Amino acid sequence: MIDRMTSASRRLWRQWKAELPGKVLARPSYTFCAEHCGRVHETGLVADQPRLVDFSTVPVTADQLRMEEALKALDWQGSSVLHVGVGDSGFARRFAPQLRRVVGLTISDAELALARSLQIPNYDVLKVSKYSWSFRPGIDEPFDFILDNNPNSFACCKFHFHQMLETYCAVLKPGGMLLTDQGGMDWVASDLRWRLQFRDLQWLERFFPLRATRLSRSVYALVRNGTASAVLVGAQALEHAAVVQAV
Ligand SMILES: C[S@@+](CC[C@H](N)C(=O)[O-])C[C@H]1O[C@@H](n2cnc3c(N)ncnc32)[C@H](O)[C@@H]1O
Repeated sequence: MIDRMTSASRRLWRQWKAELPGKVLARPSYTFCAEHCGRVHETGLVADQPRLVDFSTVPVTADQLRMEEALKALDWQGSSVLHVGVGDSGFARRFAPQLRRVVGLTISDAELALARSLQIPNYDVLKVSKYSWSFRPGIDEPFDFILDNNPNSFACCKFHFHQMLETYCAVLKPGGMLLTDQGGMDWVASDLRWRLQFRDLQWLERFFPLRATRLSRSVYALVRNGTASAVLVGAQALEHAAVVQAV
C-alpha cells in the first residue's frame, strides 16, 4: 500500500507513544481516538479525495491479492462474498464465475460505474460507506465471506468503526469469515493510532462474536460465532469498557 505518512504525523505519533504509560497500550491505540466524529451520513474519511478512494484504474493491491490467495485455500467455490472496497472490480472478474454471489461496496462513482459496465450477472455493487448505518438494510442475505483489506484505514471515529464491525457480524453467517491483511491495516488515511495489528483483532474478540485467526503471515480472518443478539451485547460491552478504561 502507498504510505502517505508525513514527517509531521510521524513526529506526532512518536510523541503520543512516548507520553503513554506502558500499561495503557494493553488496548489498541485506536481506542484513544475520538468517540464520535459528529456526523451521521458522511461516515469515513477522505471520501472527497478521488486519488485515495478511486482505485478503478489502479492496479490491484498486493494485500488484496494475498487475501484472494488465502480465500482459495478455503472452501470458497459456490459461496457468497461481500467485497468491501471493490477497486477495479478485479476480484469479481477473477472469482465471480465460481461464486454463487458477489456484492461489492464502494464510495467511488468511478468504481461503481466500472463495476456496472462489466455486467457480471452475479455481481452487484452498492455505493455506500461501510461505516454508515445505511449499509445494513441494503444487505438481504448473510455472506460466507467478507473481504476487506482496509477495515480501519478510512475510519473517522470509534463509533462508526464499531458500527461497521457490528454490521459485519450481522451480515456474516455463523462460521463465516472476515478476511483482512496486515498490509492494508497498516495504511491509514489520517491518525496513525488507527493502525491495527493482529493482537488488536484478538482484543476485539472480547466484545464481538468473532474469533481472530491467522491464515498466512499477513492475512487474518475474523470468524463469526455466536448469535445475532450476541452482536448487540458485544457492541454495548465495548462501549461500556471504553468508558470504564477511559476514567
Ligand atoms: C486502497 S483501495 C483498495 C481497493 C481493492 N480492495 C484493492 O486492494 O485493490 C480502497 C477501497 O476502499 C473503498 N473505500 C474507501 N472508503 C470506504 C468506505 N467508507 N466505505 C466503503 N468503501 C470505501 C475505496 O472506494 C476503494 O475501493
